[in-house]
Amino acid sequence: MIHRVLIAAELKNLLEPAQLADLDITWLAADQPTPRGDWVAIVPLLSRWVGGTQLKNLPNLRIVANCAVGYNNVDLVAAEMRKVFVTNTPGVLTEATADLTWALILATTRRLLEGVELVRSGQWTGWHPEQLLGLELCGRILGLLGAGRIGQAVGRRAVPFGLRLVYTARTPKPEFERETGATRVDTSQLLAESDIVSLHVPSSPETKGIINSETLARMRRGAILINTSRGDLVREEALAVALERGQLGAAGLDVYADEPAIHPRLLAAPRTVLLPHIGSATEETRRKMAAIAIANVQAVLSGKPPLTPVYKSV
Ligand code: DGY
Repeated sequence: MIHRVLIAAELKNLLEPAQLADLDITWLAADQPTPRGDWVAIVPLLSRWVGGTQLKNLPNLRIVANCAVGYNNVDLVAAEMRKVFVTNTPGVLTEATADLTWALILATTRRLLEGVELVRSGQWTGWHPEQLLGLELCGRILGLLGAGRIGQAVGRRAVPFGLRLVYTARTPKPEFERETGATRVDTSQLLAESDIVSLHVPSSPETKGIINSETLARMRRGAILINTSRGDLVREEALAVALERGQLGAAGLDVYADEPAIHPRLLAAPRTVLLPHIGSATEETRRKMAAIAIANVQAVLSGKPPLTPVYKSV
């Protein structure tokens, strides 16, 4: 049986014909609104909102197979009420995103962009003992706000750098603690103690704006903030103010509240490394993300349970 499905056009080159067997595909361009019709599955990117209206316009829909581990672009309540499965792509992007988090940690602590700029601008006049002094990692404290798959992978990479680890999590992670020596603390202690705070919680009503003027003020003076999770965890203007005042030492960000827009004050703020949401951007990972999304569609359309459901049943 052939099934009509909507798939984000940007995934075309990442998918093999065999994965698309029995699918009658409408490739959906990023700038195209979600259409109304009898499609049974949609594979959106994280930039497409799938809410009540879109679900109503797709009355035969059986699955939203989000091509991302985060799913804050999908109205879960509306989907569950309509008995539509929602799936994500956990696991496959853990290592790539942890690597990029570390790229930001190293770039911010060792002032890489300022160094590159100095060389490129021709203004480098030679070695100077006080030039671009950064933060030495060994012996410092890395605070993981959230210790799911990605947070833990970031933490494991911290051990050879000699960092001490603290983390927050709803439940203790004994194996992670054994492996890394990490200590579970509450959010206040983590903010107060960490030299580097790295965000690894998903976006939710509880975590939105968790980094704001009040929590920034509780961080160590000169501390560094890293965010490869979701942009709306951080109040961007408050972050810009903290950087302008030198309250915060630097910020390394891959995600923003209103992508691709970035708050102008944050764009102009000192000591930032701002990346264009490329946490999972490796060839292998992006192929695996697309493959899982389509495998979820194929499973549900052949009457099987989805492989990576966000909630268990519909
Ligand atoms: C995700 O999958 O949620 C990531 O943000 C994409 O890189």
